[in-house]
Amino acid sequence: MIVDLTDEEARAALPLKWGAVEPGVLPGWVAEMDYALAPPIVEAVTAAVRRGTAGYPPFGDGGVGAALTGFADRHWSWSPPADATVVVGDVIAGIRIALEVLCPPGPVVVPLPCYPPFRDVVEIAGRTMVAVEVDPDADDAALDLTAVEDAFRAGARTLLLCNPHNPLGRVASRAELEALAALAEQYGARVVADEIHGPLTLPGATFTPYLSVDSRGILVTSPSKTFNTAGLHTAQVVSLDPEEQVRLRSLPLPQNHAYSPLGMIAAVVSWTDCDAWHAALLGRLASQRTLLAELLATHLPRARMRPLAATYLPWLDLRAYGHDDPATLGLAHGVRVAPGEHYQPGLPGHVRLNIATDAERLERTVRRLAAALV
Ligand SMILES: Cc1ncc(COP(=O)(O)O)c(C=O)c1O
Repeated sequence: MIVDLTDEEARAALPLKWGAVEPGVLPGWVAEMDYALAPPIVEAVTAAVRRGTAGYPPFGDGGVGAALTGFADRHWSWSPPADATVVVGDVIAGIRIALEVLCPPGPVVVPLPCYPPFRDVVEIAGRTMVAVEVDPDADDAALDLTAVEDAFRAGARTLLLCNPHNPLGRVASRAELEALAALAEQYGARVVADEIHGPLTLPGATFTPYLSVDSRGILVTSPSKTFNTAGLHTAQVVSLDPEEQVRLRSLPLPQNHAYSPLGMIAAVVSWTDCDAWHAALLGRLASQRTLLAELLATHLPRARMRPLAATYLPWLDLRAYGHDDPATLGLAHGVRVAPGEHYQPGLPGHVRLNIATDAERLERTVRRLAAALV
């Protein structure tokens, strides 16, 4: 059911991922998958284009909220009210809006490493960032709740949670989320939970939606990472507070406008009609994860990989090979991976890989990295 794209097809389908590398270079960097879209999405979006659906998006959410409710109920036994969703252009736009409109004044806690635009969006929203770093040598990359409490005590009133975590591939436990929720409650802080990778929780791990443990949390999510539709521009902000839903729905156009009717159609179909494709995807990613572990054991045995509980973006600690910038060395050997420094400034020797490709490309990726480093 998961159809691999040829190089030529991938270059046409994913102009950023494949267009930003020279022919022959393997693009193991940006978070997009080298797989054909799920057929129900292709059919729905193609039919919409044939109908000429290329105008402004409708008022309302076009059914996106109810579709998320169904998906969350089927997969996580959690049913957010359908009208809790407000459609936004992208997850990062949704985080900006949450910061601008819903979060109390004060600094924003950003756990590091982080998806790089987290740092930018805090700055663009006019806030100060308080970094809480994961020790790269720690056995477990759990969020340091003592440091979070220190930040709240010092005046921070918002935390940007990424769960499942990009780039650590970690899924927070219910108990950890409950402890974070208790801290947020105690200090009157808000947690903005980016759960774009929630549906990419792999076999063996359990994903807990943050709002199921903290009704004051703000969810920002999208089916776009799981279903490879980032270019269609539809994400959603979910608040369980009806008054906040009204505020979000009344935003002036320049503050929230960049979502598309095609993206809304794709989102409804993704959340509603793609469970079989989604199950097949998780199976494929789990086998890529197994293959990666084998390839690393053979070709890069001193690499340390954080357990990949979710996402297709393993985080590799390559410091044992003694190079500060393994990504640049990799590029010189024909593979583009994401430098760890982008996720945690000043952190040497790490890279983020993208394994959502076929087995043969993954093997070449690891072999080329090994050739660059060993
Ligand atoms: C954690 C996280 N949030 C947000 C995004 C981007 O989402 P969007 O394109 O909807 O802003 C990504 C993309 O990889 C991501 O990993």
